[in-house]
Amino acid sequence: MKEARMILDRDYRIGEVDRRIYGSFLEHLGRAIYTGIYEPGHPLADEQGFRLDVLGLVRKLGVPIVRWPGGNFVSGYNWEDGVGPREGRPKRLDMAWFSTESNAVGIHEFCDWAKKADSSVMMAINLGTRGVDAARNIVEYCNHPGGSYWSDLRRQNGAQEPFGVKLWCLGNEMDGPWQIGHKTAQEYARVASEAGKVMKWIDPSIELVACGSSSLTMPTFGDWERTVLEEAYDTVDYVSLHQYYGNAAGDTPTFLAQSVNMDAFIRSVVSICDAVQGKKHGKKQINLSFDEWNVWYHSNGRDQKYYDSRVWREAPPLLEDDYTFEDALLVGSMLITLLRHADRVKVACMAQLVNVIAPIMTRAGGGAWCQTIFYPFMHASRYGRGTALLPVLKSPAYETKELGAVPCVDAVAVENEGGGVTVFAVNKDLHEDIALSLDLRAFENLRVAEHIVLHHDDVGAKNTLENPDAVAPVRGAGGAMEGGRLTVKLGNLSWNVIRLEKEA
Ligand code: AHR
Repeated sequence: MKEARMILDRDYRIGEVDRRIYGSFLEHLGRAIYTGIYEPGHPLADEQGFRLDVLGLVRKLGVPIVRWPGGNFVSGYNWEDGVGPREGRPKRLDMAWFSTESNAVGIHEFCDWAKKADSSVMMAINLGTRGVDAARNIVEYCNHPGGSYWSDLRRQNGAQEPFGVKLWCLGNEMDGPWQIGHKTAQEYARVASEAGKVMKWIDPSIELVACGSSSLTMPTFGDWERTVLEEAYDTVDYVSLHQYYGNAAGDTPTFLAQSVNMDAFIRSVVSICDAVQGKKHGKKQINLSFDEWNVWYHSNGRDQKYYDSRVWREAPPLLEDDYTFEDALLVGSMLITLLRHADRVKVACMAQLVNVIAPIMTRAGGGAWCQTIFYPFMHASRYGRGTALLPVLKSPAYETKELGAVPCVDAVAVENEGGGVTVFAVNKDLHEDIALSLDLRAFENLRVAEHIVLHHDDVGAKNTLENPDAVAPVRGAGGAMEGGRLTVKLGNLSWNVIRLEKEA
C-alpha cells in the first residue's frame, strides 16, 4: 500500500479558525429563496412561510453566517422594495438572472429566517446601480436604534430592535462585465471607499468586505486588488475572493487537483494585501473573505437556454447542479485549503445554500434532501473549530498537465477545544488506498473517537429525493494509537474525518 506521513505538534499552529469560514450564501436567484427557504402553503412551512425541513438541514449543516441578497442580484436591488407591507412591494425585473422578483422576502424576513437557522446575516449592498446614499440609509435602517427617519421606519415595520448586521459586502464582483453597473478598478475603489466611510460613521462596529476579483482568471486580477486596497485600505477590513471549479472534460485527477489553484489564489491575494499595507506603513492587516466558492458547471447548458428565452419567470430553476461524489471530494479539499489559511481567511461562504449550486435541495410542495457536498461541509463545520495546526505532510504525488505534481493526500488538522484533534484528509488516488501515518507524539493520551469516511465506487454517483443516501458517510476502520503514532487507511478516492479525543 502507498504511504503518506503527517506530523502534528500543538506548538506548530496556523491560527485560530474563525467560525465564519463555515458561512454560506443565499441569493435571490432561481429557487434559493422562493420554494427554497420560503414556501408559504408548503405542509412544513411555519407561520412566516419558512420551510421547517430546510431550516432543520441548515442547522444540521452548521452555518454561522449567510451572505445575502446577492451575488449579481444585489447590483440591481433596491432594498427599500423589500420592506413594509407585502401588498405594497413592487415586482421588479432582475437583470442579473432574467427573472421577476416579487420582493416577498426582504430584510425583515431574511433576518428572521437567519435567526431561526442559528445564523447571522452578512449583508451585501448595491454598488452597481446605487451608491453612497443607499449605503448609508440601509445601515441606518438595519443598525441604528431609533430616532431617525430610517431607523424609525424599521420600527414602524415591526422591528423595534436593530438587526445589528455586523458584516457588510461593498457590492459584488464589480470587476465583471456581466455585473449590472460594472466598474473599472478606480471607479469601484472610490465608491467603495466613500460608501464604506459613511457606513462606518453610522455604525463604527461593522466590518467591511471590498470586492476583489471575481476569479483568479480575470485579466484585471492583481491590479484590481491593489488599486482597490490603495484607495480603501483605511476603510475596509477584508478583500473578497470568488472561485468555482468544474469538470466539463471528465478528467477526475485534474479536477481534484484544483485545490492547488485555490491555494495559489489565496497566497497571491495575501501578498497583495501585505504589499499595500507595507507601502502605506499601515498597522492594519487586511484579511480575506472567500465569500463564494464551490463546484459549478453541471447546470450551465440548461441555464443558458433559459436566459436566451427572456421569459422573466419568478423563481425559475437555475444553477441547479446535481452534485456527484467527485464534487464532494473537491469540496472537501477546498475546505482543507481554507483551514490551511486560517490565519488569513477569516470569512468564507460556500455558494450557495439551497437549490442554487447548493448542498440542500428541495422539491416545490415536496421533500428536501442533502447533496453529496453537504457532508464534507457539515463535518468541517462541526469538527473543524479550534486552532488549525500546521502539518508536516509527506504524500505520494500524481502528475497533472496544468498543475504539475499534485499530492495524492490533501490533509489538515484542527486542535479542538478540550484538547482533542480532528484530522481531515482526502485521498485523490483513483485506484490505490494510502496508509496515512500520523505522528501525534506531541499530544498526550489521544484515542480515536471516530473515523468517518465518504466514498463511492462511482465518481458520478448522486443523491436524489428518491435515493437520498446513495452517497452518505459511513464509519471507517480507524486505527489504534501506539506510542503516539496512528496509522489510518485512506481508501482510494475518499474523504476522511479522524476524530481524536483525550482519554479520560
Ligand atoms: O453564485 C452565483 C453567482 O456567481 C453570483 O451571483 C455571482 O457573484 C457569481 O458570479
